[in-house]
Amino acid sequence: MIARRLLRSNNAPAQATSLLKHVTGTASLQGNADSLLDGTVRHFGSAPSAQPEENGFKGHGMLAPFTAGWQSNDLHPLIIERSEGSYVYDINGNKYLDSLAGLWCTALGGSEPRLVKAATEQLNKLPFYHSFWNRTTKPSLDLAQEILSMFTAREMGKVFFTNSGSEANDSQVKLVWYYNNALGRPNKKKFIARSKAYHGSTLISASLTGLPALHQKFDLPAPFVLHTDCPHYWRYHLPGETEEDFATRLATNLENLILKEGPETIAAFIAEPVMGAGGVIPPPKTYFDKVQAIVKKYDILFIADEVITAFGRLGTMFGCDYYNIKPDLVSLAKALSNAYVPIGATLVSPEISDVIHSQSNKLGSFAHGFTYSGHPVACAVAIEALKLYRERDIPGHVKQIAPKFQDGIRALADSPIIGEIRGLGMIMGTEFTNNKSPTDLFPAEWGVGAIFGEECQKRGMLVRVAGDAIMMSPTLIMTPGEVDEVCHQRFTVPANSPLSSSLASPRLGSNPVTKHQWPCLFSVGAHLRGSPQGHGGEGGSPAVQEELAKRAATTITINAGRRRTIFDVQVNKQPSSWLRDGNSAPVYVLALSPSKWWLNFLNMS
Ligand SMILES: Cc1ncc(COP(=O)(O)O)c(C=O)c1O
Repeated sequence: MIARRLLRSNNAPAQATSLLKHVTGTASLQGNADSLLDGTVRHFGSAPSAQPEENGFKGHGMLAPFTAGWQSNDLHPLIIERSEGSYVYDINGNKYLDSLAGLWCTALGGSEPRLVKAATEQLNKLPFYHSFWNRTTKPSLDLAQEILSMFTAREMGKVFFTNSGSEANDSQVKLVWYYNNALGRPNKKKFIARSKAYHGSTLISASLTGLPALHQKFDLPAPFVLHTDCPHYWRYHLPGETEEDFATRLATNLENLILKEGPETIAAFIAEPVMGAGGVIPPPKTYFDKVQAIVKKYDILFIADEVITAFGRLGTMFGCDYYNIKPDLVSLAKALSNAYVPIGATLVSPEISDVIHSQSNKLGSFAHGFTYSGHPVACAVAIEALKLYRERDIPGHVKQIAPKFQDGIRALADSPIIGEIRGLGMIMGTEFTNNKSPTDLFPAEWGVGAIFGEECQKRGMLVRVAGDAIMMSPTLIMTPGEVDEVCHQRFTVPANSPLSSSLASPRLGSNPVTKHQWPCLFSVGAHLRGSPQGHGGEGGSPAVQEELAKRAATTITINAGRRRTIFDVQVNKQPSSWLRDGNSAPVYVLALSPSKWWLNFLNMS
């Protein structure tokens, strides 16, 4: 509608501005020129809310995490008001199956009365006391003991409490440095993480994270962090390489990196058993055996980031059990309290905790901790959550329902727009690519993932969208009927259509390319922060705009050359008045119309 009106109207600057921002946002033409070529920038896009205009929450006062400014300003957020089991409800009463369990965390669902009771009782008894200077509370002591008894992949010595997964990983780095300083190894300080890993968004955890979007413009990663290969076989294997060969090559690359840097400088290696936010990437079967052998050889500590995988997600109580990982340190958060109250934890081996103890004796204190380390309410809730994981045998339940979930989603694998479906237990990723190829990406500006995510939302299911990947990590208490609902009612790519209905119909989806009549207009660049001359959006530097226009056209034209563009492209330089009065610079606009090939593909010609 808006696009059509825009096309008809000669003076519709406001709609044009809003639409173009919208398009460039979902399409990732937003940002600097690099973002055009860098798919990872798209990882944190989100579909706009389908809620009606009259809710009035645009331009709210929150600086919202992983949300673009234009989304907060121009769109109403989806406001979730209550939860029940595996479902959440928005403020308009719409019900959604929450296929991400919040943010991979409400494993026991959104309405567990025993956790509410545990919190209420603790709030009534002792709502707060700290754990500094050898003062503490009973729930924090009990929880530490409970975690130590539950983690059996190897014996762990102590538990340090944080408020989040990011803080747990930041603490890992400090503990490892403290440990190596105590051992007289002041140079053994570097960390090796992996490309596409997600370890959090604080200064150090964002550095460990291997997603460029978390580094760009934040002056990260910190120099002591190195990134090695992402163990994604489908995307990165060489022609003819088996999974086993691929795992061997990655372990060799890791060893070469260690040798190049000097083993005496490398303190620790950190890994999620299954990568989550990087796209749900389970490694090849023998990957962790090979990697563990390498890090052990060079006296490098192994940190297992179990923030997503702990408490049954893979069908074992911990991801370390699944992959036979014997870590020196472990990070926990999220499902530890079923996410009802913030809490994270860093587990350290007995050897490390012994060293930390004796060093703190020498120094007079272990000078690390947070006001809320071991918060009694969070600990009381976590103790109850751990009881529930055991009592209800959540890993066993996952083993029962996971095949239905895995097979149900994988039934869509033949769709020509799906490159790969991957996952295990109750975690899955679906990646849209062309020709089943990991390198034949759909152009970012099509917003395939965003459109698909929005279609799921319209059908009553919330999924995680990251570029053209869809991720799911639902509650671990799903009934078989709910799993069926996820797979067969809400997440569908019709078998008789080459594309999902969302993509195949020009009337659906938020992206004007698919939603509206042809031809469509895309601006190049967007409204960026910073100096007006330093960006390629409206009023931005003509030089940057021109570069963006060229790059966008090149991207699209290259795709056309490979017979997979939907567009015939013209780049026009529009006078500034076309968009908004008072613009100081012209705006470059791509006029796009669907190529004949694409129309045939959609059976629309
Ligand atoms: C594996 C992993 N580690 C760490 C974190 C960071 O946790 P938080 O958001 O609680 O800081 C996350 C969050 O998604 C995660 O998935």
